[in-house]
Amino acid sequence: MAGWFITFEGVEGSGKTTQIRLAGEFLRERGLPVVVTQEPGGTPLGDRIRELLLNRGGFDISGEAEVFLFAAARAQHTDAVILPALEAGKIVLCDRFSDATIAYQAYGRGLPQEPVREICRFASRGLVPHLTILFDLPVEAGLERAFRRIAGRESNLREDRFEREHLDFHRRIREGYLAIARQEPGRLKVVDASAGIEPTRREVQSVLSAFLGG
Ligand code: TMP
Repeated sequence: MAGWFITFEGVEGSGKTTQIRLAGEFLRERGLPVVVTQEPGGTPLGDRIRELLLNRGGFDISGEAEVFLFAAARAQHTDAVILPALEAGKIVLCDRFSDATIAYQAYGRGLPQEPVREICRFASRGLVPHLTILFDLPVEAGLERAFRRIAGRESNLREDRFEREHLDFHRRIREGYLAIARQEPGRLKVVDASAGIEPTRREVQSVLSAFLGG
């Protein structure tokens, strides 16, 4: 596999979606071939699953069902978008991947880690990001930003199913992400996301430059 697979992770309102766009521009300006994509999403199936999972629906989705839905979106995305781009030598920047399922469904929902990890391995065909940038900030600050963004959208387009969970759920997710970062310090780089767009952008650029060799 010739390309680089770089994922962006973080709690709600961490600013990673803005940062992934800026990182894409930064790398493209340097003439590098970049694909920016997201989970759940990135394919027609993934987009449909995203709607089911994130928009407020009139039905319940159990934690286990949630894992399989995220995994189904991931399997299609890995197969149809990520692996072909990596094989073509591209740098794939992906807004969330398997770490999100470990953080949200295992740590957040309290599902047992090993089966969740195994489902993630199966869905992603064992693909592990070469680098993961984790945007960290206190969950209260992130949720405040997230709700400001959500309030600006039409009510039928509000992807707020997770944001509306209680604070402890979000705290467990943050702890989960930080635990993964402690377990895999070589792969995960923690960036302070509380400082605002510009300082965070500079930090991301220096992480990317160091990783890609200047
Ligand atoms: P986003 O808001 O960053 O686009 O992410 C979508 C939401 O889905 C966010 O609340 C996190 C959640 N999520 C999971 O719970 N598990 C997963 O595996 C993924 C990819 C996202």
